[in-house]
Amino acid sequence: MFDNILTDNYTPPKTCTVERVTAVKHWTDTLFSFRITRPAAFRFRAGEFIMIGLMIGGKPVLRAYSICSPTWDEELEFYSIKAPGGQLTTELQHIQIGDGVLLGKKPTGTLVHDALVPGEHLYLFSTGTGLAPFASIIREPETYEKFKEVILTHTCRTGAELEYGRQLVEDIRKDPLVGELVGDRLIHFTSCTRDENESQRGRITDLIENGELASVIGRPDLDPATDRVMICGSDAMLRDLKDMMIARGFEEGSNAAPAQFVIEKAFAGDGVTS
Ligand code: FAD
Ligand code: A2P
Repeated sequence: MFDNILTDNYTPPKTCTVERVTAVKHWTDTLFSFRITRPAAFRFRAGEFIMIGLMIGGKPVLRAYSICSPTWDEELEFYSIKAPGGQLTTELQHIQIGDGVLLGKKPTGTLVHDALVPGEHLYLFSTGTGLAPFASIIREPETYEKFKEVILTHTCRTGAELEYGRQLVEDIRKDPLVGELVGDRLIHFTSCTRDENESQRGRITDLIENGELASVIGRPDLDPATDRVMICGSDAMLRDLKDMMIARGFEEGSNAAPAQFVIEKAFAGDGVTS
């Protein structure tokens, strides 16, 4: 059980503030999302990550989490794995509305508009919880000011794991603030690798190579002259997609030297669970 940092006589680490959980939703046995209060002074760029955590046995346990909310949201939203035996998420999955969580003060990351040079179409390639930073970017008005079209791809093992993203995109289209701006300029492509009930099957790498992605979304193959790319997933997925981008003539960007594509790990470690 994690410590109650709201009522115990407790001072947070200097690098954190204490926030309250305002909503929790469990999507599958291994995935949940939650929202917390946002300090007035907390500023971030769409796509960045931040340290969040709990006090467990009197010690802070903090992990990197992509911020799913757009910058205009009054609260902060996160999308989380329940890692088997994971120190933080074994506890974090039990948070309830009103509980206290630790929030770092310094957001950072490379999946940001500043790390890309201008282009026409923005591709956001994600697997698993790698969707999280893009949940922020697809709700950010700046994205639609900078790009004509946004193509979000999300690949998971099963259809149930796609549900958070599907709900999100449905909600964005109805959102009074960004719905009109987004219109039909956001394309959401999903695929599954281990679910026979899903019609679109296959890894995103294969679907790019065999032309299936291009044919389903009705666009030509990736082109460094017009397309910009952000990638978030496991080490293996990043490695493969990065190689494919470089083979197509894309250059990797950073905050210091913007270019045509950027990558960030969805988690550290190999993620081998089966
Ligand atoms: P850990 O000891 O941290 O992890 C145990 C094992 O579980 C890892 O070795 C790994 O194999 C696996 N694992 C951990 N996280 C994931 C994951 N997300 N998906 C699949 N397998 C995983 N996690 C999120 O759930 N949502 C996020 O938005 C998120 N953003 C991140 C951003 C960055 C830049 C980085 C580096 C990591 C991010 N993570 C995210 C991973 C997160 O920091 C923790 O690893 C995760 O919360 C599990 O913590 P834990 O202490 O329970 O287990
Ligand atoms: P697969 O089922 O074929 O391994 P995970 O849950 O392991 O993080 O995987 C999330 C999704 O990412 C799965 O659909 C998985 O496909 C896919 N994936 C794993 N490795 C790669 C890779 N190297 N390139 C593209 N997709 C990958």
